[in-house]
Amino acid sequence: MDSPFLFGKLVGASTFVNRTSEQEKLSKNLSSGINTIIISPRRWGKSSLVEKVALEIAKKQAHKKVVRIDLFTLSSEEEFLEAFAREVIKASSNKWNDWLLATQTFLKSISPKMSIGADPTTEFSIGFDWKERQKNRNEILDLPNKIGKEKSIDFIICLDEFQSIVQFTHYTELEKAMRAIWQRQKNTTYCLYGSKRHMMADIFDSSSRPFYRFGEMMMLDKIEKHHWVPFIQSAFKKTKRKIELHAAERICDLMKNHSWYVQQLAHNTWVKTDELATINTVHSALRELLSTNMPLYQMETENLSKTQLQLLLAIAKNVSQLTSMETIREFNIGTSNNILKNKNILIEKDIIQSTPDGFEFMDSAFELWFKWQYLRIEPK
Ligand SMILES: Nc1ncnc2c1ncn2[C@@H]1O[C@H](COP(=O)(O)OP(=O)(O)OP(=O)(O)O)[C@@H](O)[C@H]1O
Ligand SMILES: [Mg+2]
Repeated sequence: MDSPFLFGKLVGASTFVNRTSEQEKLSKNLSSGINTIIISPRRWGKSSLVEKVALEIAKKQAHKKVVRIDLFTLSSEEEFLEAFAREVIKASSNKWNDWLLATQTFLKSISPKMSIGADPTTEFSIGFDWKERQKNRNEILDLPNKIGKEKSIDFIICLDEFQSIVQFTHYTELEKAMRAIWQRQKNTTYCLYGSKRHMMADIFDSSSRPFYRFGEMMMLDKIEKHHWVPFIQSAFKKTKRKIELHAAERICDLMKNHSWYVQQLAHNTWVKTDELATINTVHSALRELLSTNMPLYQMETENLSKTQLQLLLAIAKNVSQLTSMETIREFNIGTSNNILKNKNILIEKDIIQSTPDGFEFMDSAFELWFKWQYLRIEPK
């Protein structure tokens, strides 16, 4: 029987939990021309949210066309612009001969090279000669505007892991051009989202950067426990199994409502259940989850220096005064300058975040594993 839980993929209608107010807000913004920037830590559900809202808008309003590009997989400006051109053109029609025509018409001045494979619907690409970078860039960035005007289309362009753009060689020029060209486009709305909070904030929050105040910022929160619990219970019920209420609650508490992990732990629990899942089932599923993820967590800790690891240990032990003489001695974490530097590195790596009372781990399952490995605290 198929698991009613899903992780590692974008969640569709039947497994989508709550986010009603976020869906409403994003949908209103994107269908009324308000650029929106979404920031949230990894795997809380940005891509799933954007996907769901974008599909719904496109379904209801035929003249709105959605383009989605994940920048994580693109390693240069050229690749990005070629993907941008290709996806905008593909979204403008569902006929591949229209794509060829549109490429020839709207990108004529920068001599596009098209290629189509045996199945043109999946193997369509456009390349350019990159000697005239600036000209290509400007033409391609303005493509949604040109096609939109000609074909009465409103584009909604969703760029996932947008912060990846800063790694491109000519990034500063690209950033300026994007902002200058995109803000004049009346028929195109941008949804730019990413998980590296510091990089995203640098791009959109600094008054000296081109993208300052480009759109409305949305900080996506976690899905709350009172939405997760009924979802978990009904997913068990649908598949003719049951889960005790406090076992379902324990799944959320252990994973601190982290979307991906709630689904993963619920799945592991479901697999172990014949009829009724109890707290014991959840605990045994948790150990399995931590073992499965162990290679990842080991890699994460191996990439830390000795003093960074020691600092993380102090944080795991809830030490409140990290720079006190006592802490420095007990954990051997170096001078206060060192501590400050390491703290910032751990924050930049998204391993910890600061809270009003100190610091907390960003990854709830990694925290349990870390405490188990290094502090011998049983995960439960
Ligand atoms: N609304 C939701 N309802 C149920 N599960 C969800 C929801 N949103 C996210 N999830 C769970 O979290 C996982 C990660 O979601 P998604 O890929 O959308 O997050 P993301 O923030 O884009 O992650 P990444 O930072 O890795 O790109 C999904 O595979 C699913 O298991
Ligand atoms: Mg994503």
